[in-house]
Amino acid sequence: MSNRYAVILAAGQGTRMKSKLYKVLHPVCGKPMVQHVVDQVIKLNIKEIVTITGHGAEMVEQQLGSSSKYALQEEQLGTAHAVMQARDMLEGKEGVTLVVCGDTPLIKHETMEALFKHHEELSAKATILTAHAENPFGYGRVIRNDMGMVEKIVEQKDASEEERKIKEINTGTYCFDNKALFEALNKVTNDNVQGEYYLPDVIEILKNEGEVVTAYQTADFGETLGVNDRVALSQAESFMKQRINEEHMRNGVTIIDPSNTYIGADVKIGSDTVLYPGTIISGNTVIGSECVIGPHTEISDCHIGEGTVIRQSAAHDSHIGSQVNIGPFAHIRPQSDIHDEVKIGNFVEVKKSVFGKGSKASHLSYIGDAEVGKDVNLGCGSITVNYDGKNKFLTKIEDGVFIGCNSNLVAPVTIGEGAYVAAGSTITEDVPGEALSIARARQVNKENYTQKLNIKK
Ligand code: UD1
Ligand code: MG
Repeated sequence: MSNRYAVILAAGQGTRMKSKLYKVLHPVCGKPMVQHVVDQVIKLNIKEIVTITGHGAEMVEQQLGSSSKYALQEEQLGTAHAVMQARDMLEGKEGVTLVVCGDTPLIKHETMEALFKHHEELSAKATILTAHAENPFGYGRVIRNDMGMVEKIVEQKDASEEERKIKEINTGTYCFDNKALFEALNKVTNDNVQGEYYLPDVIEILKNEGEVVTAYQTADFGETLGVNDRVALSQAESFMKQRINEEHMRNGVTIIDPSNTYIGADVKIGSDTVLYPGTIISGNTVIGSECVIGPHTEISDCHIGEGTVIRQSAAHDSHIGSQVNIGPFAHIRPQSDIHDEVKIGNFVEVKKSVFGKGSKASHLSYIGDAEVGKDVNLGCGSITVNYDGKNKFLTKIEDGVFIGCNSNLVAPVTIGEGAYVAAGSTITEDVPGEALSIARARQVNKENYTQKLNIKK
C-alpha cells in the first residue's frame, strides 16, 4: 500500500447558509460537519491529514484539535487554490492524496477505502468519487466520452443545457497521485463563470496529458450529499439520524418511533434498552442495557447504568447508576452522581449532588449542592437552601436519614446518620445522628374562634 495523505477543504464561509457560524461547523446530529468527515478519514490509515482553513480558522482548529495539521487559505479563490495551500506540507511526496470537502458529513470510511482501492488497482493519477443524483442541481457533472471514460467535470454554473441533464455528479471526494496533483494544480486557471480555481479542472488537465483518470461511483447518493444551504442541512440531518438509529436498532436497541427519536453521533446504548418517542440523547452519553428512556426525555453527556428508567425528564452531564427510577418531570442538572436504585420522582430538581444507593426524593423537591447518603428518604417538598445570594453551601444528609415533608435544610448543615427531621421544619443547625429534630412553632388551637368573630360583628 502506498503512503496515504488527506486534504480536507474547510475554508469557505458558506455564504448560502446565511449564518454567522462557519459552514463546516454547522452540526449534523450534534456534531460539526467537518468533525464527521475527519472522524471517518482518521479510520483510513492516513499518514498526514491537512485541513485547509480560512473563515473561522481558529474555531475549526479548536474543534478538530491535534487530529489534523492545518494550512491557512487567506482568500477563498476556489477549491484548487485551497488544495494548493497544502503545498509546503505535501508537494513532491510519493503516495496517494485523498481530497474531501468538509461539507459532506455523510461520507463513510468504507466508501473512501473503496475509492483508494479502485485508484490503486487502476494505477490512476486521479479517481473521482461520483454518485447518481435524481436532482443533480448545484453539483459538478461528470462528463464521459463515447467509450464511457471520464473526460472532465463541469460545474453547474458553467454547464450547457445538455450537460445539466447529466445525473452523474462529482461528490467532491477524490484520490490523486500526490506528485501529479501538485504539478497539475499549477496549471489550473480561473477562466470560468465564478472566476474561481476549480479543483475538478485537475481531472481534465491530467486527462489531456494522457494520464489515467477514472471514476468510482458509489450506489448511495445520500452518503455524498454536499451541504451548501439549510435545506441540504436538514436533509443531511435526516439521513444521518436514520443511519444512527438503524445502527442502534441493529445492535439490539428498541426504538418505538425512529422518526421521533434523536440520537447524537457519539452516543452509546446497550441492548434491550427501549427508547420512547420524543427522546433526544446527545453528547458523549453512554446508556447501559435494559433501560427505558422516554417518552419526551432529554439526556446530554450522561453516563447511565443498566435497567434504569427515565420518563419525561431532562438529565445533563451526570452519572446515573443502575435500576434508578427518574421522572416523570424530573430535572437532573450537571455534576450529579445518582447511585444505584435511587428514585427521583415528580417535579424534583437535583443539582451537583450525590445520592447514595437506594435513596429517594419522590416528589416536589430541590436538592442542590448536597451529599445524600444511602437509604435516605427525602419527603415531599424537601428543599436544600444552598444559596445565600452570594455563595453556595453544602448540605450533608447521612445514611438512613428521614426528612419529613416540606422541610428546609439551610446550608451549611449536616443531618447525622439515622436522624429524623419533623415535617415543616426549617433546619439551621446540625442534627446529631439518631435524633429527632423539630424546628417549627408548636401548634396552638384557639377554641371557639368563629364565635368571637361573630361577637365583633
Ligand atoms: C464542489 C465541487 C463540485 C461538487 C461539489 C460536491 C468545485 C469547484 N466544485 O462544489 O464539483 O459537485 O463540491 O459537494 O470544487 N472551500 C475552500 N476554499 C475555497 C472554496 C471552497 O476551502 O476557496 C471548501 C468549502 O469550505 C467546502 C468545500 O471546499 O467545504 C467545497 O466548496 P463549495 O463552495 O461548497 O463547493 P460546491 O459549490 O459545493
Ligand atoms: Mg459544497
